[in-house]
Amino acid sequence: MKTVLCFVAMCVALTASRDPTETYPRTAVLDSKLQIFWKFNATHITIETHLSAGGWTGLGLTSNASESSDVIIGYVEHNKGVIADYHYAGHQPPTKDASQDVTLVYAHSDNEGSVMVFVRALDTGDIQDDIAIHPGINHVIWAYTEIDPTNLAYHDVHRGGADIKLLDKCQPSVGK
Ligand code: HEM
Repeated sequence: MKTVLCFVAMCVALTASRDPTETYPRTAVLDSKLQIFWKFNATHITIETHLSAGGWTGLGLTSNASESSDVIIGYVEHNKGVIADYHYAGHQPPTKDASQDVTLVYAHSDNEGSVMVFVRALDTGDIQDDIAIHPGINHVIWAYTEIDPTNLAYHDVHRGGADIKLLDKCQPSVGK
């Protein structure tokens, strides 16, 4: 299940059915229905998620997905987005962090699925529940559901993990 994904230097739509809201330097296809695009600067990462389904989207960082992960879960319904910062102990519903360290900056939904753009600090400073994003390989986990986004239901087979080079040391893009 663990896949090594190479980031692409230019924003190339690999299987996406829609274009991202702006040109991002990085993208990864996590699943036939889930693609992410991202950019970063010295302090923050901006991530755009494209889900070709009607449920919630979850994206997280982990050292061990069965034990402890830092996840962000969001959904868009009637163009209104909802997002939150969670702690996922594995195989059970995640719990919301006391410190909410994610900001939703764009949300869109239509009959093709949903798009969210959110920003978080590379290191939120929440040592209780968050994992800092570091240069090089980060183990990313993802999950989604196909329907009923407001219900944080079990993802079933729609989950996975990937080793992704989220950041590198050369030429970070400017702006949040
Ligand atoms: C809605 C609450 C959630 C429940 C009830 C839940 C439950 C479960 C269960 C029972 C499994 C083991 C069976 C299987 O492989 O499907 C599992 C695995 C997994 N879940 Fe979740 N999960 C939830 C949310 C999430 C979220 C938000 C993510 C990621 C952002 C995630 C990522 C994973 C991954 C990567 C696995 C496979 C690796 C492993 O077995 O630990 N889950 N989950």
